[in-house]
Amino acid sequence: MLQVKQVSKIYEGKIAYRALTDIDLTIEDGEFVGIMGPSGSGKTTLLNMIATIDEPTTGQILIDGSNPHQLRKDDLAKFRRRELGFVFQDFNLLHTLTVEENIVLPLTLDGKKVKVMKQKVQEIAAKLGIADILKKRTYEISGGQAQRVAVARAMIHSPKLVLADEPTGNLDSKSSKDVMGMLESINKKEDATMMLVTHDPQAASYCNRVVFIRDGKFYSEIHRGDNRQAFFQKIIDTLSLLGGDGNDLSQVRV
Ligand SMILES: Nc1ncnc2c1ncn2[C@@H]1O[C@H](COP(=O)(O)OP(=O)(O)OP(=O)(O)O)[C@@H](O)[C@H]1O
Ligand SMILES: [Mg+2]
Repeated sequence: MLQVKQVSKIYEGKIAYRALTDIDLTIEDGEFVGIMGPSGSGKTTLLNMIATIDEPTTGQILIDGSNPHQLRKDDLAKFRRRELGFVFQDFNLLHTLTVEENIVLPLTLDGKKVKVMKQKVQEIAAKLGIADILKKRTYEISGGQAQRVAVARAMIHSPKLVLADEPTGNLDSKSSKDVMGMLESINKKEDATMMLVTHDPQAASYCNRVVFIRDGKFYSEIHRGDNRQAFFQKIIDTLSLLGGDGNDLSQVRV
């Protein structure tokens, strides 16, 4: 599904900054992979390059065997819209639109028929438990609901690859578990491949595998197996070995 080959990123500027060095990462179809590491370790940088929002300085990113960074601008926009789904920490919902309008946005941009869109919204809203708030404006709903709306919007076009950057960063522990449970079930049922950047070990414990990076370099990876609680403990242990900015463990939710 996804191959990151020897990717490095240097941010040019007055002082050039090397954010990633020689990252190799392969994600198979249907995998759910977490990316963890201290603040500033390069997680968002990596995600943005996979999201085709930013380009690697050296190395290659292949999605389903082809390199989206080589597409022409409008083909790239189409690729992003059709094949990828995004979920962010601050939800990125449009406040002038209703919940329903936010969810159908990717389909609207793609010129899908209204009837088809309506039906899809109903299906996905029922799945995510937000069917009764579809007519509300985004400022009339809670954070947990807003994140479910963002998940619905990320999933409505059945993307192959879903990229999430701190999707539970602004949520309380209950909503966070709900959202992760939903991502997990979408990953299983819809066969969507997922990549999740997070500081939260609880959220990461829903993944099949967690890759740790430090100072822009691969550090280690661990696999879940069938015991989530044991995996959670392994994640915490790895994070404490990894060190970091000290804030990372303050977010631990048990
Ligand atoms: N546009 C940019 N220009 C210059 N430097 C940048 C830019 N974006 C990020 N950086 C630097 O690259 C490094 C990695 O940033 P990145 O946002 O990928 O970290 P992160 O792992 O996502 O951190 P956090 O957990 O705090 O979100 C940081 O030192 C950051 O200051
Ligand atoms: Mg980040």
